[in-house]
Amino acid sequence: MLIAHLSDVHVGGSRYRQDLLETAIAEVNSAGPDLVVIAGDITDEGYPDQYPIAKTELAALECQNVVMVPGNHDARNVGYLGFEDTFGDRDTRARLELAGLDVAVVAVDSSKPDLDTGEIGREHYGWIHEGFTGPADLRVFVCHHHLLPIPGTGRERNQVLDAGDVLSVLRHAEVDVVLAGHRHVPYVWPVAGMLLIHSGMVSTLRTRGFPHPAYNLVHVNDGRIAVTLHVPGGEQQSLGSYPRDWPAELSARHSDPFVRPQRGTSLADG
Ligand SMILES: [Fe+2]
Ligand SMILES: [Fe+2]
Repeated sequence: MLIAHLSDVHVGGSRYRQDLLETAIAEVNSAGPDLVVIAGDITDEGYPDQYPIAKTELAALECQNVVMVPGNHDARNVGYLGFEDTFGDRDTRARLELAGLDVAVVAVDSSKPDLDTGEIGREHYGWIHEGFTGPADLRVFVCHHHLLPIPGTGRERNQVLDAGDVLSVLRHAEVDVVLAGHRHVPYVWPVAGMLLIHSGMVSTLRTRGFPHPAYNLVHVNDGRIAVTLHVPGGEQQSLGSYPRDWPAELSARHSDPFVRPQRGTSLADG
C-alpha cells in the first residue's frame, strides 16, 4: 500500500513555483498511490483568487482517494470558508479499502484563523477516537501542524497547543501513522507505537535549513513502513524503514493513566 504525502503547496505566494507542483503531481501519478494526503497550506494566504488555482492544479492528481486539511495559511481571516467552498469539509473521517488493507483515516483542521499556532481542541477528541474505533489494518491521522518539534527549524513557536493530550488520544486509539506538514522540513519521529511523519514544502521555497522542495512516499508493507523523501524532478532519499508493529513494551498503548480513563474524575477522588 502506498500513500503520497504532500503539504505546503502555498499557491499564490511570492516563492511558489507552479512547475514544482506540476512535476510532483506527475511523479505521484506515475507512482500510483492508493491514497494522497495533502496536509495543509494549500494556498499562501487563503485569498479567493488562490483557491481556484489550487483546485485546478490539484485536479491533475489521478488518485481516487485524496484527503486534505487546511493549514494556517489557508485559514487567515475567513480563508477557511474558501477552503470549504473549494474542497469541502475541513475535517474528514473515512474507512478505505486500499490494496487489501482496511484503512481508517481521520483528518482534522488544526488551524485557527489568524494564528500560526495549531490546536486540535478537546471537543474533537471523542470524534477522533470514534473514527478509529473497530478493527482496522492501519490507522492514519492527518493534521497540518506538528505534534512534536522538528529538528533544524529554529525556535519552537507553532506546535499544536494541546499536543500532549492529542498524542495520548492517538496512542490510545492505536494510530499507526500521523501525517503533518507546516514546518517545511521533512522528518520522522517514531513515538509510542506511532510514526509522526512530516513532509517538506512541495512547491515553494520558503525555508532555509532544508532548502529543497519535497514530498514523501510512504510504503506500507507486511512488516514495515518505509518513508522516502522525493525532491520534485530531483533526487530521493530514505527517511527510514520502521517496524509496523511495535513491541508492546515500547508502544505501551494503555499505559497513560491521566487523560481518557480518568476523564470526569479528579485524581483527588482516588
Ligand atoms: Fe507552510
Ligand atoms: Fe503552516
